[in-house]
Amino acid sequence: MKVLVLNGPNLNMLGIREPEIYGAQTYKDLENLIYEYGHANQIQVEIFQSNHEGALVDRIQQAYHTVDAIIINPAAYTHTSVAILDALKAVSLPAVEVHLSDVSSREAFRQVSYAGMACEKTMMGQGFDGYLQALAYLKEKYGK
Ligand code: DQA
Repeated sequence: MKVLVLNGPNLNMLGIREPEIYGAQTYKDLENLIYEYGHANQIQVEIFQSNHEGALVDRIQQAYHTVDAIIINPAAYTHTSVAILDALKAVSLPAVEVHLSDVSSREAFRQVSYAGMACEKTMMGQGFDGYLQALAYLKEKYGK
């Protein structure tokens, strides 16, 4: 099966940004972990990161008929982007939302997730492992 992993703004700064919240490992470490898990579990994984809302919308649209499922950490756009929500609804692919931190126990403005409204599951507060849990969930449910 083929899964697209999308990461939103500032996640490319992992290892540098607020390590007390997001940990000391880098974005490259995250990519390597996801690719290795995909390889070991017969999941073809593609990873895309952007700091731009429209680029994320474009990538979701391109996923139509080309991938089996989406994993998305929209980062700050989680809490603002109706455009990303609408794009996920438009392609209507199985989607899982991931957050490194436990957004449910953070600031009030992080309590709404627009993208999450188009996702069938959310992994939060598990750090990098949340992405692997999302891959495992999708493989179990939609794997071929
Ligand atoms: C995040 C949580 C968001 O609130 C924040 O804006 C991020 C990262 C997470 O992975 O915990 O950039 O999505």
